This record gives sequence, C-alpha cells and structure tokens, in this order.
Amino acid sequence: MRLLIRHGRIITATDDYFADILCDQGRIVAIGRDLDVANARVIDAGGRWVIPGGVDPHTHFDMPFGGTYSADDFESGTIAAAFGGTTTIIDFAVQQRGQSMLAALDAWHQKAHAKAVIDYGFHMVVTDMPDGRTKELSQLADAGVTSYKLFMAYPGVLYSDDAQIFRAMRQAGQDGTMVCMHAENGIVIEELINQALQAGHTAPRYHALTRPTRMEGEGVYRALAIAEVAQVPVYIVHLSSADALEEVRRGRDRGVDAYAETCPQYLFLDETAYDAPGFEGAKYVMTPPLRHHANQAHLWRGLRLGDLHAVATDHCPFCFSGQKELGLNNFAKIPNGAPGVESRLALLYEGGVKQGRLSPNQFVQFTSTAAAKLFGLFPRKGTIAPGSDADIVIFNPNRPERISVDNPRTHHMRVDYNTFEGFQVSGYPDVVIAGGEVIVENHEFKGRPGAGRFLKRARYNGLLRD
Ligand code: URP
Ligand code: ZN
Ligand code: ZN
Repeated sequence: MRLLIRHGRIITATDDYFADILCDQGRIVAIGRDLDVANARVIDAGGRWVIPGGVDPHTHFDMPFGGTYSADDFESGTIAAAFGGTTTIIDFAVQQRGQSMLAALDAWHQKAHAKAVIDYGFHMVVTDMPDGRTKELSQLADAGVTSYKLFMAYPGVLYSDDAQIFRAMRQAGQDGTMVCMHAENGIVIEELINQALQAGHTAPRYHALTRPTRMEGEGVYRALAIAEVAQVPVYIVHLSSADALEEVRRGRDRGVDAYAETCPQYLFLDETAYDAPGFEGAKYVMTPPLRHHANQAHLWRGLRLGDLHAVATDHCPFCFSGQKELGLNNFAKIPNGAPGVESRLALLYEGGVKQGRLSPNQFVQFTSTAAAKLFGLFPRKGTIAPGSDADIVIFNPNRPERISVDNPRTHHMRVDYNTFEGFQVSGYPDVVIAGGEVIVENHEFKGRPGAGRFLKRARYNGLLRD
C-alpha cells in the first residue's frame, strides 16, 4: 500500500517547507504541494514536523560486558528506538580476544537478523589485532562494516595499546574506512581505581572520581595524533567534557579529519547524580562518567559551532536490580552503561530547539543526517528526498510527555529504570515510518521483528568535511 503524508512541515538538515510526501515500495517517490494520488493510505501531518527517521550510530544490544549482558536485545532495543523516532541504529559487534572479526560479525548477524524491527548496521570493536589479522579489516569493509571502534580504556578487557591502535588505523586509512575511538587513558585510570579501592572507597561516586576529564582529553589528543600519522578519519565516541572537546577543536584546527559525538546524558545530567542515596548512583555508572555541570554549556556550544557532529545514545542498559548490583561492594564491578535509545529525539528537541540553542535544521542534522553521512548511509538514510528510504518521523512539537520508567508512552526499553526519569519534554514522535511501513502510531507498535534489514554501509566519503 502506498503512503501519502499530507500537509506536514518537512524539515531536513538544510530545508524547511510545507509539502506532501508519497512513499511507495519502501522509498520516497514524490514530494510536492497537493499531490494528486489515488490508492494510497493518507496520513494528515498538519501542525506537525515531518523529519527523517533518526539514525543512532551508537548502541549496544545484547552485548556481553561487565560479567553480564546488556538488557535489551535487538528486538526490545529496536522497538524502543522506534518509539523514540529512531529508524536506523549502528550497533557495536565485539571481537572477543583470539576470535576472528569475521566470526564476531557472524555472531552479531545472528543476534540481529530475526529480531530487529528497524534497519541496522554494525561497527566492529577491535580488541585483538596482530599483524596477521589486519586483512580482516578490509574483508569487513567489503561486507559493509566500514568503521571500527578501538578502546583506550578497560585494560585487559577491550583495551588496545597504541601499537594496536596504530596498526588498525593504518589499515583503515588504506581501506578508506573510519575509526571510532573510546578516548580515555585507561592505564592511568586503572591506577586511580586501584588506589581508590585500596583506600576503601567502594561507592558508585568513585567511578566518576577515578576518571578525570583530563584523562579523556589526553585520550582524544593521542587518538587524533595517531590518526594524523596513520592518515585516517577518526570519530570520538561519547565525548563528555570540555577538556576533550578542546582537543577535538585543536586537532581539527590543524587539519586532522576528526569528528565527535556527544550523548544526551552529558548534555542533560551531571555528576551530582552520584550523590543519590544508597546505591542509586550505580544507575549512572557509565563511561565516561557524568561530569561537573559546567561542561554542559561547552558541549551545547560545540554542537552549535560545529566542533561536535552528532548526538548518539551509547545505549547500554543494565537493570539496577541484579545487574548494577554486581558492584554493590565495589564500584569497579558495576556494569558500565545506561539506557537512552528511546529518549534522544525528545530530549534534543527540548534542550536544543525549545530552549533556543539549536535550529530545527540542526536538530535533524544531529539526530539523523550527520551520522548517515559519516557512516556511509547517506542519502539512503538521513534525509527526505526522492529515492531515499521512506524512514520518516511525524514529530509533534506540541506533545508534552514526562519521561519515566512508569510512563508506557516513553519507556519500552527492557530495563528497570530510566536515565532521564522525570524529565518533562514538550515534543514527541507521534508516527514512525520505516521502509514505508507505519511501525508506531497511536502509542502502539505495529512493526515486525525481522523486518529490519542489515545495511551494507559505504566507505567514508568525506561528506561532512568542511
Ligand atoms: O558505559 C558505557 N559507555 N558502556 C558501553 C561501552 C562503551 O564504552 O561504549
Ligand atoms: Zn566507549
Ligand atoms: Zn558505547
């Protein structure tokens, strides 16, 4: 059945106008005023925004981490994403030490293919890459996995030393792919953690106290310097602090092809969350940790001025009960991560557009277009144009919601708390369309597990380079 979206205000990263959109066979086929169309289901988007479906380039579904698995799998996680207006995710497949990255990719295909309700791609987390394995990166690129994440943190688990980072970057540079970096000095942080534990400090707040912003800044500096020598574009994930942002700005100023994302938790929450009574602070144990609130203004400014390029969620949920509690007596054993895939658009609309920090075009740029361009999905994803996938959100700028684990309209994630509990937002996605099918409408899910397709992504093409 064809779909006609009438009378909406179409907003892309560059345009803002009123028109109708006709979708057929999963694609946008026509855009125009008062389209004359027979045999189509009509949705009236009057008074609402019609925007490209969100692209969240940073999720962790069904991921083994911290002695457990992230609580959302590809079904519950993508359903929650869809309710929040995200129609494409890029998840991180994880190579176990000693494992071939191609086997890791297969494992992630198995996790996703019968479950995902929206389209998905994968980055590969590289944990073990001796010389003989570098060719696997090229094979991944041929298979549509055109970006890799390396960790400067978590020694003994996901950590890569500088030699491994350089090796992977050099190969990625030759292959025309992108390196994503978790930038923190994990070795110094490990030392700080050990000192804190030896002094008997076990509470969640020590997670933040042992990960100073300077060590994030140092990681960013080093990542950009190594990328500069390896001649590869680099994308800093989950950037949380002014110190780190400063290093991105400096690197870009000297010509490094560097990009960075931040996440709603760093734009809206701060380190006082760790003062919550009892063990409650564990809900906010994520890496990097929440920072002093003074960092937030720098991050908003970074978005506005173009030093930050995307807003991702780093959705990595662990239930408070039974999972976060693994670290009851030792903050270093609390599984790192927090839920957020469902709230990204509503939060960025609120803090960005409503509060006058971002234009509507920037809102679309940061929630959809930039990630599509950086990760080889544009213009199939990330815009509203003839030929693009019919992934469309009808966003109601006048729909107040209180984000809460207890609000069935704002919480579909399979986790027993909401990171943004009690946040009041004034706009929310009403209708979500993926591949030309309505998958969320009237607060109901209408999609189907397995309907999401794996996206073979193109290699990095510099579309966002200025
Ligand atoms: O705390 C976090 N961010 N958990 C997920 C793993 C990562 O570093 O992205
Ligand atoms: Zn990370
Ligand atoms: Zn992450």
